[in-house]
Amino acid sequence: MYRTHTCGELNISDVGEEVTLAGWVHKSRDLGGMTFIDLRDRYGKTQLVFNMESNPELCREARELGREFVISVTGMVAERSNKNLSIKTGEIEINVQKFGILNRSELPPFTIENDTDGGDELRMKYRYLDLRREPVRNNLIHRHNMAREVRLYLDSQGFIEVETPVLIKSTPEGARDFVVPSRIHSGEFYALPQSPQTFKQLLMVSGFDRYFQIVKCFRDEDLRADRQPEFTQIDCEMSFVEQEDVLNTFEGLAKHLFKVVKKMEPEGQFIRMPYIDAMEYYGTDKPDLRFGMKICRLTEAVKGKGFPVFDSAEYTGAIVVPGAASMTRKDVDQLTEWVKRPQIGAGGLVYLRDPEKFAPLWVIDFPLFEWDEESGRFYAMHHPFTSPKKEDIPLMKTDPGSVRANAYDLVINGVEIGGGSIRIHDRELQKLMFSTLGFTEEEAEKQFGFLLNAFRYGAPPHGGVAFGFDRWVSLFAGSETIRDFIAFPKNNSGRDVMIDTPASISEDQLKELSIKLVK
Ligand code: AMO
Repeated sequence: MYRTHTCGELNISDVGEEVTLAGWVHKSRDLGGMTFIDLRDRYGKTQLVFNMESNPELCREARELGREFVISVTGMVAERSNKNLSIKTGEIEINVQKFGILNRSELPPFTIENDTDGGDELRMKYRYLDLRREPVRNNLIHRHNMAREVRLYLDSQGFIEVETPVLIKSTPEGARDFVVPSRIHSGEFYALPQSPQTFKQLLMVSGFDRYFQIVKCFRDEDLRADRQPEFTQIDCEMSFVEQEDVLNTFEGLAKHLFKVVKKMEPEGQFIRMPYIDAMEYYGTDKPDLRFGMKICRLTEAVKGKGFPVFDSAEYTGAIVVPGAASMTRKDVDQLTEWVKRPQIGAGGLVYLRDPEKFAPLWVIDFPLFEWDEESGRFYAMHHPFTSPKKEDIPLMKTDPGSVRANAYDLVINGVEIGGGSIRIHDRELQKLMFSTLGFTEEEAEKQFGFLLNAFRYGAPPHGGVAFGFDRWVSLFAGSETIRDFIAFPKNNSGRDVMIDTPASISEDQLKELSIKLVK
């Protein structure tokens, strides 16, 4: 038996018990007659003690153990004289009677500590070691917890998770596709899905009524902190719904996640802000409603957190100053003088980084089309399956630029967490959409014939949404970098430096795929 317990569970009530633990040698200290080793696994750390007086041979062997060796130890749980109350197992230690080395380790290229000495590049190259670090592991546990809650909630609302194919067909519109050459059909290619959009619509035609999927999507676009070439969506679709039905259903999901993950209960309905208002008042379609020069009350948020200035203050308020991070010393001095004026009467300024606050809203009524100067044509602002507002349909032929869509985004703290729309379910309207986008009838038939055909057989009214799961997970963890919440991410140039890909393939493989490379 490798272990009777994990390294994170023994406590004072286990004193006197004989136990066997297995894990990694985290740290080792020799103090005269004693050697202490912290043994680590996913669940925590437990202190092991080897005594030179009572068992010199074992103690000498223990001193040979290097960092990250994998061992299994058997011993007695004892109360510690020097307790460490900051960890769960800090009241006990194990007086080791015997141990075995299960595997040796070379010296790791960086320390496996919360604050490691390893740089980004090195940690990514040895991501499997990076994942041994507690903060990184916790990010993935947080992700797992959110995924579980998404499934629980959507299941409770009658949604069925259905998998859709990963080898699909390249289509114009949207971002650039990743393509996969076919060996059997020489000269032909699959594409990886940018989203399961058309499949989820087909599932509605099939009568599934409520679909969801936590699903990988692929887009060959320039990367940023909140963009990966492969990322995960919570993809959803519903039948017999109008826009408000969809917003209310997924506001329910958002509130459930706020409640169970953040222990917060956002009050009332999320704001629904028309696109034109967002642009007019915030200059962006992703407004961050935490900002604005309004004074917000922080007393409850900051009191009792151990900072005397806040604990003794009767009232703590904040003005959120956009762009404050780049203010000069002089600007800051002026602002300090300003808040001390009798009218405001503040004692001074204390700088806070994001007291945890969330400002969710739906941005609605997006334009259906956007004009592209370069190609001299309209593009679908969301995608070509989004329905126009009924009253704007006549404008599609006369003034496409002013047609509003039944499209919406969920924005939290200035981050686009998700987006969706009520879809076109009428064949003729879908054809009109394609022709407004500049497709000939033949092109539309070739690219999207399967969908137009499906619409011949009783397509129900339907609509849905997709959330960027990586973004939502990182936002809730207070981070802007989605990479930290993906087990094996790509770097900023789309490379996986651990497995070293993209990589070339052999001449034989190229030949089999009928591909010739040009220099
Ligand atoms: P959209 O293209 O808006 O909609 O994508 C939905 C959400 O996915 C997230 N997202 C990304 N996250 C990480 N890396 C990326 N490269 C990336 N691209 C997008 C965003 C975005 O809001 N099929 C439609 C949805 C629908 O109409 O139901 C779609 O894919 O958070």
